[in-house]
Amino acid sequence: MDPFGRQIDYLRVSVTDRCNERCLYCMPEGYRGWARRADHLTADEIIRVVEASTALGFRKFRLTGGEPLIRTDIVDIARRIWELPGVQTLGISTNGVQLAKLAEPLKQAGVRSVNISLDTLDPTVYQKLTGCRIGPVLDGVAAAQAAGFEVVKLNCVLLRGLTDDQLPGLVEFAAARNMPMRFIELMPLAPGGPIDERHFFSVAEAMARLAETDVLEPAADKPPGHGPARYFRLRRSGALVGFIGAVTCADFCATCNKLRLTANGRLRPCLGRHGEIDLMPALRSPSPDGTAVAGAITEAITNKPETHSFTDDFKVGRPMTAIGG
Ligand code: 5AD
Ligand code: SF4
Repeated sequence: MDPFGRQIDYLRVSVTDRCNERCLYCMPEGYRGWARRADHLTADEIIRVVEASTALGFRKFRLTGGEPLIRTDIVDIARRIWELPGVQTLGISTNGVQLAKLAEPLKQAGVRSVNISLDTLDPTVYQKLTGCRIGPVLDGVAAAQAAGFEVVKLNCVLLRGLTDDQLPGLVEFAAARNMPMRFIELMPLAPGGPIDERHFFSVAEAMARLAETDVLEPAADKPPGHGPARYFRLRRSGALVGFIGAVTCADFCATCNKLRLTANGRLRPCLGRHGEIDLMPALRSPSPDGTAVAGAITEAITNKPETHSFTDDFKVGRPMTAIGG
């Protein structure tokens, strides 16, 4: 339990801060703040942190980035995490670009749940937002579906003037594949770029947009591994839609159950607060000591803030790509 009565049992593990896309809302334009390769956690180090966390009651794990699939040892990392006693569920969040070839190996390695970022179905808007072609991503979605994961969710960041006119189309696309579609409020994590608060589009606005053509009813069933999303079913189409109101929902942090591990070995108790705890001294000291890693994880739980600070003049330290969505 953290000081606010939350059971912290979910670790999001960023395996790299690099990405093969260039999403406008995720990294500042011309970003050069990459961690040195030598400062990335090795697979062995990641496994040691995960192992220490299971002893402290962590049960859920998710691999993120940057883009986790660009790490050549990602399938191996997934398998080794899945084989650890105490690990109950393992997910991965990806942009989908390389999923066509990796969905099946990841499934075999034990990955249960896949979240794929899909902000738009319009190839031109997709290219503008991410710098990449949408084709391989759609192939990746199909491969994830074919591989038979427990759950595949699609994520769209709500952006006024860019993704807000596509919401019913995305919902329909997801529902046709039996995938929940989730809409995420823009968090101020990539300053100085072309995306700013003028693009902010709230979940309330998104719900109103969908309510123009269907009826939203609170969903009794949540997909496994649900995060802080609130889920609804559209009465007519039966589609399952989640809303992640990270910025506008006052009680958003009340059920937060996670810590984040950055690719360069920092534990981050909250996405929207700058505090971090450096695990590297414990991991790279000449006599690596398991208790030091466990102590740092306990310290991160004790220091977990009650809420994020996005709404009170948040200044970005690490951009999203270096934290791990
Ligand atoms: N605000 C909201 N969501 C973001 N993501 C990346 N950057 C931001 C941001 N600034 C999303 C990605 C992905 C998830 C891991 O985080 O689009 O769906
Ligand atoms: Fe948890 Fe921080 Fe995210 Fe709130 S902002 S849900 S406390 S990680």
